[in-house]
Amino acid sequence: MRVMVCGGAGYIGSHTCVALGERGHEVVVVDNFSHSAPKALSRLEALLGRSLDAHCVDVRDGAALAALFARHRYDAVVHLAASRSVHDARTRPLAYFDNNIAGTIALLRTMREAGVGRLVHGSSAAVYGDGASGALDEDAPPICDDPYARTVAFVEQLIGEVCATDPGLRAVSLRHFDPVGAHPSGRIGDCVGGGVNDTLQAICQVVDGVRECVPIYGDDWPTADGTCARDYLHVMDAARAYADAVDALGDDARDVDGGHMAMNIGSGRSVGALELLGAFEAASGLRIPYRVLAHRIGDVAEVYADTRRAADWLGWRAESGVDAICRDVWRRLSMRAERTPSPAFQAEAGAAPK
Ligand SMILES: NC(=O)c1ccc[n+]([C@@H]2O[C@H](COP(=O)([O-])OP(=O)(O)OC[C@H]3O[C@@H](n4cnc5c(N)ncnc54)[C@H](O)[C@@H]3O)[C@@H](O)[C@H]2O)c1
Repeated sequence: MRVMVCGGAGYIGSHTCVALGERGHEVVVVDNFSHSAPKALSRLEALLGRSLDAHCVDVRDGAALAALFARHRYDAVVHLAASRSVHDARTRPLAYFDNNIAGTIALLRTMREAGVGRLVHGSSAAVYGDGASGALDEDAPPICDDPYARTVAFVEQLIGEVCATDPGLRAVSLRHFDPVGAHPSGRIGDCVGGGVNDTLQAICQVVDGVRECVPIYGDDWPTADGTCARDYLHVMDAARAYADAVDALGDDARDVDGGHMAMNIGSGRSVGALELLGAFEAASGLRIPYRVLAHRIGDVAEVYADTRRAADWLGWRAESGVDAICRDVWRRLSMRAERTPSPAFQAEAGAAPK
C-alpha cells in the first residue's frame, strides 16, 4: 500500500515509517518540520535501506496536500502532524487549536476529495483527563482539563462525525499512553530519549548533566514501589500498532463500528518512577540520584491502559517492557553525536525537502 505519514519526521511518525516500510508499504512523509529536523529523514533512509519520498508541507495547506494527492493514489493516511505539549498549549491555545484542528479539517477534506478512505489518527490518553486513575477503557467519558486534551478530543470527535456521514471513510484513533524509548539501533528517537514523560525526561537530563537528580513526587503512594505509576509504551510497539491499524483498515471485510473507532495503546501495566529508575540504572550501569518531594497537586497513584479493544480488533499488544525501553533509551543517549538537540529542532542543519 502507499501510505502518507503526516508528521512522519516526528518522534512517533519516524518509528511508524520504519514499521510500515519494513512491511513493504511505500511510505510518503509529509511534515512541516516545525517540531522535527529534515535530518531525521536521512536516518530513516539509512534504517530502511532506500530513499524516502518526503515533502515539506503544512497539513493546513489544503492546496499543497491536494497537489500531493493528485500526484499518486494513496491507500491510507497516518495523521501524526500535531502539536503535542500540554504545557505549551496552556500558554498558546490559539496556536494549538489552529494547528491540531485546522490541520485535521484540511487533511480530511483533501483526502475525501482525492478518494482516500482510510485514516489512522494519533490520539492521546490525555482525553481521559488528569484525574483519571486505574485501568482506563475507551468508554470512559472524555474529561479534557487543558487546551491540548481538548484539541485531541475534538479531533477524534470530528473524525467520528465525518466517518458517520461518509461511508467511504474508515478511521481508527490510537490513544497513546506514555510513548517512550527509541529504535533499537539508537539511530532515531526523541531528543530526550523518549516522549514527554516526566520521569524518563528527568533521568535523561541527569545523564546529560543539566539536572542534579530525578524528582520523585512522593514515595508513599499505594503502588508496588510507593511512587506514582504510569503506563510506558515502547515507541516501536506504538509504531507497530500504526502499521497494524493501516493493514486492518486495508481489509475491507473488517467491520469498523460506525466508521471510526478509538482504541487505547499502552503496555497494560503501570510502572512506578523508582522501578523505571532502577531499570535505567541496570541498562546503563549508571547510578541516577533522585530526591523524594511532596506529592504534586492532581497526581494520581496509577494509570494504565485497558488494551482489550486493541487486542480484540487489531490483534495488537505491547511486547517490550521497561527493560527494553531503558536499554534503547540508553543506546540512543550514548550515540550523542547523532542526537537532535532539544528544544530547537528547527535550528538543526539540513535542508527541508521540497
Ligand atoms: N509523544 C507523546 O508523548 C504523545 C502522547 C500521546 C499522543 N501523542 C500524539 O501523537 C502525535 C505525534 O506525536 P509525536 O510525539 O510524534 O510528536 P512530534 O512533535 O515529535 O511529531 C509531530 C510531527 O508533526 C510535524 N507537524 C506538526 N504540525 C504540523 C503541520 N501543521 N503540518 C505538517 N507537519 C506538522 C512536526 O514537525 C513533527 O515532525 C501528536 O498528535 C500527539 O498529540 C504524542
